[in-house]
Amino acid sequence: MRLSEPVGIASLGLKIPSFFLDLKDFAHLRNTDPNKYEIGLGCREMALCLDQHTVVDLALGAARRALMRRKGGLDQIGFLAIGTESGLDMSAPLTKWVARELRLSGALRSYEVKHACLGGTLALRQAYEWRCSPASKGKAALVIAVDDTLYEARSPGEPTQGAGAVAMIVDEPLIAEMDPCSHSWSRPADDFWRPVGEPYPHVDGPLSLECYNQGALACFQAYCEDTNQTLGNFLENIKGMSFHTPFPKMVQKALGVLCEKAEITAGNPNKAKELFLEKVAPHLTWNQKIGNSMTASLWFSVAQNLCGRRIGEQISAFSYGSGCGAELQLLTAGPEAQAAAWAQDLQEDFSQRTRLSAQDYDSFRTRNQAVKSGFPAAELLQNKRGFRHAS
Ligand code: CAA
Repeated sequence: MRLSEPVGIASLGLKIPSFFLDLKDFAHLRNTDPNKYEIGLGCREMALCLDQHTVVDLALGAARRALMRRKGGLDQIGFLAIGTESGLDMSAPLTKWVARELRLSGALRSYEVKHACLGGTLALRQAYEWRCSPASKGKAALVIAVDDTLYEARSPGEPTQGAGAVAMIVDEPLIAEMDPCSHSWSRPADDFWRPVGEPYPHVDGPLSLECYNQGALACFQAYCEDTNQTLGNFLENIKGMSFHTPFPKMVQKALGVLCEKAEITAGNPNKAKELFLEKVAPHLTWNQKIGNSMTASLWFSVAQNLCGRRIGEQISAFSYGSGCGAELQLLTAGPEAQAAAWAQDLQEDFSQRTRLSAQDYDSFRTRNQAVKSGFPAAELLQNKRGFRHAS
C-alpha cells in the first residue's frame, strides 16, 4: 500500500557514550574463556556511560546531530517521542529533560514510550501515523530510541550490556521511506522485567530467546501472507535485514529459524549461514562495538544497513520487546541513503572513546552496585550530572 505523499526518515543522528570495555578484558575479569563472548554470543565490546553520562546526554547528542543535518528550525518539530526502558521518572516523560535542553516547547506533543526494547519502534510508528494525519499540519516528528543497559554484576546478561541513542526525524523520506503497514505480534510473557524501584532487570534467558524467535516467525509470516509471497522468496529477494540485537548470535539463530520454516536449508545446509553473512552480519558491526542498547539496538543496525544504499533498495527491520511484543516493518532507501552522512557520528565517537581497563570497570560496578542498592534507581539517575526536576 502506498500513500499519495510518502513519509519516512528524513534525518538520522547517532550517539554512544565515551567509554567502552573490550570483552577480552571482561572475560579475563570474570575468569571466562573469551571465545564464549566472541564466538558464542558474537559480541566484541560494550559501550558504557559510567558515572559520566545519562540517557539524557545520549538522547540529546543524537537529537542535536539529527537536527543539525536537517533544513528548517526547531519550530518545524511538532512531535517528540522517546522510546526507552531507562526512564528517569514514573510520571514525567524523558522528553521533559530533552525538550528543556533543546529549548523545544509550544505546539508540541511530547511523551515517552515504554515497552522494553520495542519502545523506540513503537514511538517511530506513532510518529509516522501522526505525520501522515492532518494533526501534524505538515510539521515533522523527532523520535529518539535510547538506553543505558546494565545487568547485575556477574549475572549471565552482564557481557551483553551496552548504551547508545538513535534519533530520527520523521518527515519526507530522504533517507528511507517507511511502509504504511507494519506487522505486529504480542503475547503476555515473563521473560524480562524490572520491578519499580529495582536497579537491574530480572531475566528468564531461555524464555526470552524462545519468545524472540516466536515473534520473528509470526511477523515475517504475516508480512509474507499480506504481500502474497513465500518466506523463501522474501529471504532471497530482500537486500538487507536488521533485527533487534541483544547479541549477534541470537540474530543468527532467529534467521536460522526463519530459513528452516521457509525450507530453504533442505538442499543446502549452509544456506542460513550464507544468508546471514550476506544480508545481516555486515549491518551488525556497530552493534558488536556498542553492545545491547535495548530500544536503540535495532536502529543502530538499520542506520548501518541504510549506509550507501541505492534509491529503491528495500530492507527489513524486526523489533522485539520483552513482555512481550514484536513488530516488522520494511524501509525503502531514499536519495540521501547513499551519502550516509550519519555514519560520521559513530566514526567520531568510536575514534574518541576511552578503553577502560578491567579494574576500572570492576570498581565502577562495585561503586554502582553499592549506590544502587541504597537509592531508588530514578533518584540515582536524576542526581547524575544534576538532571533534577525544576524547582
Ligand atoms: N567458546 C565458544 N562458544 C562458547 C564457549 C566457548 N568457550 N562457551 C560457551 N559458548 C557458547 C555456548 O555454546 C552458547 O552457544 P549456543 O547457544 O549456540 O549453544 C553461547 O556461547 C552462550 O552460552 P550459554 O548459553 O551458556 O550462555 P549463558 O547462559 O551464560 O547466557 C544468555 C546466555 C541467557 C542469553 C544471557 O546472555 C542472558 O541472560 N542475556 C540477557 C537476556 C537476553 O539478552 N535475551 C534476549 C531476548 S530478550 C530481549 O530481546 C530484550 C533484551 O534486549 C534483553
